[in-house]
Amino acid sequence: MTLVRFFRVDGSLDKEVEAEAGQRLLDVAWAAREPLEGACEGVMACSTCHVIVEAEDFEKLPPASEEEEDLLDLAAHATRTSRLACQILLTEGMKSLSVRVPPEARNWMGR
Ligand code: FES
Repeated sequence: MTLVRFFRVDGSLDKEVEAEAGQRLLDVAWAAREPLEGACEGVMACSTCHVIVEAEDFEKLPPASEEEEDLLDLAAHATRTSRLACQILLTEGMKSLSVRVPPEARNWMGR
């Protein structure tokens, strides 16, 4: 079980949910009704599932593939700890994972 925390851009906590190992972060975000678009549904053809991972959690993730890096280069507000939520798989050892949803990802719901 992983405790996933979604933060707003201003740093305040939006939601905290429990998720199972093996789940994609994008699916967890959708289930939590987080406004993360994920337009291509995980085939790495957009970058609308971009999230900014907390630095200490970023270390726990396997490195991004070259394709993912290329897409992140195109994502607005990308930082050193940016990842695509469709490429993050929760694992047994991951006790918690905190991510921030950048502004563009939220716009589609008119927030
Ligand atoms: Fe399109 Fe992740 S959903 S790259």
